[in-house]
Amino acid sequence: MKHRQGAGLKLRRIHRQFDGRPVLKHLDLDIAPGEFLAIIGPSGCGKSTLLRLIADLDQPDQGTLDRSEEDVDLAFVFQDPCLLPWRSVIENVALPLELQGVPHHHRMPAAEALLKTVGLEEAQGKFPQQLSGGMKMRVSLARALITRPDLLLLDEPFAALDDITRHHLDDHLQSLWLNHPMTVVFVTHSLSEAVYLADRVILLSAGGGDITLDYKVPLAHPRTPATRVSTPFIDHLRIVSEAFELHARAAE
Ligand SMILES: Nc1ncnc2c1ncn2[C@@H]1O[C@H](COP(=O)(O)OP(=O)(O)OP(=O)(O)O)[C@@H](O)[C@H]1O
Ligand SMILES: [Mg+2]
Repeated sequence: MKHRQGAGLKLRRIHRQFDGRPVLKHLDLDIAPGEFLAIIGPSGCGKSTLLRLIADLDQPDQGTLDRSEEDVDLAFVFQDPCLLPWRSVIENVALPLELQGVPHHHRMPAAEALLKTVGLEEAQGKFPQQLSGGMKMRVSLARALITRPDLLLLDEPFAALDDITRHHLDDHLQSLWLNHPMTVVFVTHSLSEAVYLADRVILLSAGGGDITLDYKVPLAHPRTPATRVSTPFIDHLRIVSEAFELHARAAE
């Protein structure tokens, strides 16, 4: 049975070290089904390590990670869109379904519908080298959603893009999340992007693996370009920024 809301996660006492050096130290974290969680923190604090553990791409040295369901479908989006250059846009988006053996007449309309939601219906016959960086990332988002994942993990997906493109992609990601029930865990270096998108922002400490801030962003969705300049948004951003600054200074 497919869960309708997305997967929930329960991490308890997660410990991960590399070459004897602890990166995540006995971390506890609960992620609610359907939540949009943003993870921020200084470079090297273990954000990608945490995401890989959640994705089951790596195992903790100690601790447990429980999912609300056993058969969680997850998708991972990286900064590099990783498109296959010899396949058209629509063939790239349909690939995960093709690998699952879904017939052509089912997978192509599904890919087309998703391309529409990211505003790329006109580009479906193009090839990756004909696309801008932002368009490639939209293809990557559409491909990630084609299997209707319960859990979408993104590791600084828009970091290489300019601000305007990034803002557009934030809005595409938000509408994908609003239209497809799923849990999202989003790692970003951008505090404003975290506050704009997420229900909840957590700040990981430098080299400690502690969560030094766990902040609910009580702004209604959908958030719009007007949100970015609204007083409540700026107030929330200030709180998160101050915690980040305080923490970064404490870590120096
Ligand atoms: N497979 C690995 N082997 C050895 N060390 C690793 C491995 N993966 C991560 N590390 C180390 O663990 C620490 C945390 O890395 P991680 O990539 O999780 O940080 P991050 O918060 O994602 O950083 P950034 O913001 O720069 O992406 C770093 O010191 C990194 O060098
Ligand atoms: Mg990282």
